[in-house]
Amino acid sequence: MEKSIESVQSEGRSFAADPAFAARARVRSLAEYEALYARASQNPDEFWAERAGELAWERPWDAVCEGDFPPGPRWFVGGRLNATVSCLDRHLSTWRRNKAALIWEGEPGDARTLTYHELHREVCRAANALAALGVKTGDRVGIYLPMVPELAIAVLACARLGATHSVVFGGFSADALRDRMNDAGAVCVITADGGYRRGKVVPLKQAVDEALREKGGSPTVKKVLVVRRTGEAVAMSEGRDLWWHDLVARQSSSFAPVAVDSEHPLFILYTSGTTGKPKGVVHSTGGYLTHVAYSTQLVFDLRDEDTFFCTADIGWVTGHSYVIYGPLANGATTVMYEGAPDTPEPDRLWRIIDRLGVTVFYTAPTAIRAFMRWGDQWPARCSLASLRLLGTVGEPINPEAWMWYRRTIGKEHCPIVDTWWQTETGGILIAPLPGATPQKPGSCTRPLPGIHPEVVRRDGTPCVANEGGYLVVKRPWPSLLRTVWGDPARFEKSYFGEIKGVYFTGDGARCDGDGYFWVMGRVDDVINVAGHRLGTAEVESALVAHPWVAEAAVVGRPDELKGQALVAFVTLRGGRTPADGDAVMLAAHVVKEIGAIARPDEIRFSDALPKTRSGKIMRRLLKEIAACGHAEGDITTLEDLNVLAKLSMSSDEE
Ligand code: PRX
Repeated sequence: MEKSIESVQSEGRSFAADPAFAARARVRSLAEYEALYARASQNPDEFWAERAGELAWERPWDAVCEGDFPPGPRWFVGGRLNATVSCLDRHLSTWRRNKAALIWEGEPGDARTLTYHELHREVCRAANALAALGVKTGDRVGIYLPMVPELAIAVLACARLGATHSVVFGGFSADALRDRMNDAGAVCVITADGGYRRGKVVPLKQAVDEALREKGGSPTVKKVLVVRRTGEAVAMSEGRDLWWHDLVARQSSSFAPVAVDSEHPLFILYTSGTTGKPKGVVHSTGGYLTHVAYSTQLVFDLRDEDTFFCTADIGWVTGHSYVIYGPLANGATTVMYEGAPDTPEPDRLWRIIDRLGVTVFYTAPTAIRAFMRWGDQWPARCSLASLRLLGTVGEPINPEAWMWYRRTIGKEHCPIVDTWWQTETGGILIAPLPGATPQKPGSCTRPLPGIHPEVVRRDGTPCVANEGGYLVVKRPWPSLLRTVWGDPARFEKSYFGEIKGVYFTGDGARCDGDGYFWVMGRVDDVINVAGHRLGTAEVESALVAHPWVAEAAVVGRPDELKGQALVAFVTLRGGRTPADGDAVMLAAHVVKEIGAIARPDEIRFSDALPKTRSGKIMRRLLKEIAACGHAEGDITTLEDLNVLAKLSMSSDEE
């Protein structure tokens, strides 16, 4: 595996933790971090018990951790809790009762603040409404909402009654929603008439109607609860669809939390894997909440005065862990913004930071690269003086973007926490502790106490310093996914099948002589487009579902802005010659099947794809052709050399 150019360039650069920051931080020096790390390694049960002990439990656990992977241990065995008690109820008996829990801003400029007390009441009302609709503990509830307060309320209402929520990002299509609802066996879907994105209305209810009507629908879904957001006219199906404002508003504002087993599935979140079918990642209640509460506290050095703004949509895991559960479990103020960062102008987020006095800001490298492209004049209009800490997540950050972020947003004094984690890990595993760990641009630095990552070779033996290999985690931690919903065999194969005895992340990385991790991206057929994870197989199966398409191979190509762009190589059926407009039409077809995030950036037609003699598509060659117009590597196993010549020609013509 080769080092990225950025990694090479930035090697040796290091930014010590800001002394003023360190003086007040939870962990103030590298020595303190190392001592904590050593203690967690030596006595993990004691360490994790302390972390879990910071949550509210209805019944304490009998054992901290039982079993090992695979398929993974159970955590806080015998313990019972309700996640919302830790996130809401326990703050009500403190001065935080009337502290802002959630500050929300809509794209059109409307705003709403909910204190802990108010959020608690709304969550109880919504839980009562769900119960009135027949939702029971253990049922699955689909949530397909824009970034409005009701999204956080709906998530917590499910948790309150012990129903497992499955949030589907509003950018996914009706087909993708249907597949997820059917896989999860959801009994109810919570949606809205629409949401705002760049001034346009995203018609979510219409998509739900289509999901429930076409291609066999979703037979388990009996009720649809609809939030009125845009006021656009929507069809309401008698007996099935109910308005949130009718039903929720008239419910009681108290609802006794249902204490569930520590291992009870808090949520299912679908994410892309290496096959065409997304995986339903299942997270537990006790273990998940323990790690997100702990990691929020440590990595963001969170304190009561903070106003924490994570720009992720709650449709992704970052939104689950660091918009809702982590900040609220810590009694923090969390900010939620509905719309696009450049609406009405590219200074929207900076204005929010100034207006609300945001202290901690967490976003994705793709967004940072977009901010750079839009120009420094936008952040320059704002003071940004309230910021004390910056974070990034979702993809490797190129050192140039890191430096820009530090200089232009952080004004050279805010530490940057580059946080590495995954949907499956539930929370952050590798990141600097901002008052302790010197930062190197482009590296997510060192693991959190309690976390044991390693870079290994395919046979599981450890790599030496700076040798590229596979990123694995050697020991269990509480917030690892528990299974793939409905497919335990896939769970074992995907994460424990490749390299024995460890959790396999699917990422390639190297670890330098200081023990710093440099994550270089996926080593499987998963690609990261603008911080969104996509399976190439998923896009391929959407393409081949079109009657004209015989074969398709989708690969990632490096992209300055999005990290990676999607390139699809397509052969048409029956020797059909591609016509003008076919590429646009096929791209639209993928958007319908999956959603706009999966729209190929480029579709190339070809009368054959490069294959090995055994018929396997040679993706490596396609990646090279997509990236630089021709294949440079070894082609000795290629079945038909002509194919390559034609593909390279077709790319040269462009
Ligand atoms: O490849 C890694 C990349 O994003 C993948 C996880 O994607 P997802 O499950 O969608 O979760 C994203 C939000 C946690 C990882 O396998 N990734 C995530 N964070 C980083 C990263 N790559 C490099 N540096 C990071 N900080």
